[in-house]
Amino acid sequence: MHPCFTRRSLLIAGGAGLGAVALAACAGGPGIPELTGIGAGDVVVPMADVPVGGAYEVSIDGRRVLIGRPTEGTVVAFDATCTHQGCTVRATEDGLVCPCHGSAFDPATGAAVHGPATEPLAPVRVTVRDADVVLT
Ligand code: FES
Repeated sequence: MHPCFTRRSLLIAGGAGLGAVALAACAGGPGIPELTGIGAGDVVVPMADVPVGGAYEVSIDGRRVLIGRPTEGTVVAFDATCTHQGCTVRATEDGLVCPCHGSAFDPATGAAVHGPATEPLAPVRVTVRDADVVLT
C-alpha cells in the first residue's frame, strides 16, 4: 500500500498506476515521494495519482506538501506545516489532520476546521497541465 494515500483514496484511485514521481525514492518520510530541484512548470505528480476528494503527500526539497483534488479537474496544494505549532499535517481518512494536537484542515481550501489551529495552511501554487499537477 502506498502510505501517501488514505485507504479510501486508494479505493477511489483504484488501480491507477504509480507515476514516475511515486517511483522516486521516498526520502520525504515513510512512503512519501521526495522531489528535489524542481521549480515552476515542473511536474509534481500525475493527476491520476491524486484521487478526487483525497490528498497526496509529497516532499519537495524537504518541504512536505499536501496535494488535494477537490473536483475532477481542479487541484490545490498546501504546505503541510501546521499553523498551530508546526507539526506536519497528514492526509488521513478524516481529511488533513495534525497528529500533534488534533487540528484539522479543509482539504479543498486549507482552512482550519478544527482547532487548536485557527489559521489556514499556507498555499502552494500548482495547476493542472495536460494530465499532470505542476508547480506554478
Ligand atoms: S501543532 Fe498541529 S495541532 Fe498543534
